[in-house]
Amino acid sequence: MGSTQTFEHLLKPLDVGDLRLKNRVVMASLTRNRDNVPRDNLHVPYYAERAGTGLIISEAALICPQGVEWTFMPGIYAQEHVEGWKKVTDAVHAKGGLIFCQLHHVGRVAHPGTRVQRESGQPVPGPSAIAARGGKFRNVPGAPGYTVPTPIEDPQQIIDLYSNASRLAKEAGFDGVELHNGNGYLPMQFLESHSNKRDDEWGGSTEKRMRFSLACLAKMNEHFPYHRIGIKIAPCGGYNDMGELDENGIPSEEAAKATYVPFCTKLNTLGLAYVQVMRWWASYDLMIEGRPRGIEWNPIDCLRPILKDTLLFGNSAFMPEEADEWIRDDRMDAVVIGRPLLYNPDYTEKLQNGSAVTLYQEQPGDEHWWYKWRNNDKRDGYLDWKNRTIVPTTLKTGDRLSLIHD
Ligand SMILES: Cc1cc2nc3c(=O)[nH]c(=O)nc-3n(C[C@H](O)[C@H](O)[C@H](O)COP(=O)(O)O)c2cc1C
Repeated sequence: MGSTQTFEHLLKPLDVGDLRLKNRVVMASLTRNRDNVPRDNLHVPYYAERAGTGLIISEAALICPQGVEWTFMPGIYAQEHVEGWKKVTDAVHAKGGLIFCQLHHVGRVAHPGTRVQRESGQPVPGPSAIAARGGKFRNVPGAPGYTVPTPIEDPQQIIDLYSNASRLAKEAGFDGVELHNGNGYLPMQFLESHSNKRDDEWGGSTEKRMRFSLACLAKMNEHFPYHRIGIKIAPCGGYNDMGELDENGIPSEEAAKATYVPFCTKLNTLGLAYVQVMRWWASYDLMIEGRPRGIEWNPIDCLRPILKDTLLFGNSAFMPEEADEWIRDDRMDAVVIGRPLLYNPDYTEKLQNGSAVTLYQEQPGDEHWWYKWRNNDKRDGYLDWKNRTIVPTTLKTGDRLSLIHD
């Protein structure tokens, strides 16, 4: 069945700094947990197939070796990563696409028992000695949760890594870079008040807590102009025990505004390519101690007037019809699409040819998109780390796998 909708707003080009996006569908960062160095037979075709989107944001790429929940995240800290990513960016460009690299440091949600963290010789770092609640490390014996991090003595040393990663991203042919400032990772840990209890120049007031992110952006700016740098924020929290709290420790919209309004006021002055704002979505709103950890509010509408000189990309659980309307009504400039692009590499082509309805059609046995993503994760094979081989998929729709999440 075809759709009669034309998606004229979604399919309109968008100028982002000196780049022209051919449409306003941006591919979200999607960790695939496939290998630390991008592979010719996995990453290259995967990204190239999705080059019909206006812009691709790469899966999160670690800026230094860290022992993370997803054992096979790619990196952007060594020359071998440049070689691997270069093939990806070349393939995307050959198909007329654009691609930014998402720069990633997980901070306190690494684990000291993981192989990579042990080999790095570094403790798990965080702004303060406060562990996130929850967490699961299937790759560590005993399935432990998150650990209490060692407070970072000199944040500047980590901030400097963002310069190195940006330099390598440039060398690898990326069109720009994005600071991953969401989902409970290091920059967000510095930004939010419950995870940052420092009393030096990196903590305390909102102004001091936002310094880390701003300093990272300034380092990225050593290799890319600000109009080639984006940032992703997640003011609704949830995942990784995030979200601002009121004085009683309850997740609070007012507390979130107290951090994110001044932060975005500052971001608005930088001339960034875009600010990507995640709205509330159920899958990231985990239950902690019997209550949802996230904050169910609408940060996109709240922050739009504050980000008045910056493009705003809306993210999380957007259907194409809704995204088209929000762009038409000037509530955002582009939509960032994640899960549907996993199983619809031809997402924008489907919008163009009117088969948009299939973008969210459930298949028999799929109760939830989450399962659908899991199944699709292995559609084209996955890396068997021990044997260093690619295992082709043999899965049926509805099989529940947990290569990455469960
Ligand atoms: C499998 C999977 C992997 C993800 N990996 C990342 C990531 O590496 N970086 C990131 O910023 N967000 C990541 N996210 C969040 C997505 O970028 C996106 O914000 C989220 O899926 C909501 O968009 P959607 O409803 O269109 O899927 C991931 C989500 C999923 C489902």
